[in-house]
Amino acid sequence: MEIPDSMIAACDPSKQVVVLTGAGISAESGVPTFRGEDGLWKRYRAEDLATPSAFQTNPKLVWEWYDWRRGIIGKAEPNPGHRAIAEMEGIFPHFCLITQNVDGLHRRAGNTEVIEIHGNLWDLRCVAEGTVREDTRVPLPEIPPLCECGALLRPHVVWFGESLDQEDLSRAYRLIEGCNLLLVVGTSAVVQPVASFPLMAKQAGAFVVEVNMDPTPISPLVDVSLHGKAGEILPALLEKIREYWGRGDGA
Ligand code: OAD
Repeated sequence: MEIPDSMIAACDPSKQVVVLTGAGISAESGVPTFRGEDGLWKRYRAEDLATPSAFQTNPKLVWEWYDWRRGIIGKAEPNPGHRAIAEMEGIFPHFCLITQNVDGLHRRAGNTEVIEIHGNLWDLRCVAEGTVREDTRVPLPEIPPLCECGALLRPHVVWFGESLDQEDLSRAYRLIEGCNLLLVVGTSAVVQPVASFPLMAKQAGAFVVEVNMDPTPISPLVDVSLHGKAGEILPALLEKIREYWGRGDGA
């Protein structure tokens, strides 16, 4: 995998850097992605499992599916791609990670500046009170889980047809519009509003790099597309950034 010099020169550690990730970053940890050959949406219907009406109709079925995913994710470990992004937070003083993933693996890898824009499946939210609590038990002792108030608890994630948290979204827009470098990793870039972030960043003047196994709808508009595994490309990229900027060549 050839990483172009123009890209390394754009990775100025003094600038605002944003990394945007999707399910592909966790694929090498054994967490299934949503689309593609083995994607979850090939085997399951999103309408039955990831919508408010699915939860209203059959909360037990929805929770069984989330409990199964929590089981897989609970056993998964952050991979070299996650770890490289965590190290980037240490190198770039103006850094933020926006992830569509609900698996929590970025935080486990060490990232603290994270916007989990689709929520987190280790958090449970009371449908009556709106209160959120963390529960990492796998399997959950009771399905569907209930709040002390008697109401259902639901996964604190964003389902199809639901709005994103306004505060998270406003923060993400500000970061995207103000960043100098945007690294887009392992997302099919088809789910809005996140799918439009790369174009927004590009139009605001950022250098945009995509890391993905395959070409995506954003490939034609980014500055550099690196095709391959995130767990291989990101550590290599990090090493090159360290070599180049550590030596002060571009200073
Ligand atoms: P997708 O499953 O749609 O896309 C995963 C992307 O990762 C694809 O473009 C793959 O080519 C790429 N990929 C797979 N393995 C990779 C690897 N090892 N290295 C690099 N790239 C790899 O996942 P998302 O784009 O995250 O929404 O999906 C967006 C949203 O759709 C999810 O957040 C979820 C889903 O419905 C909600 O839960 C609201």
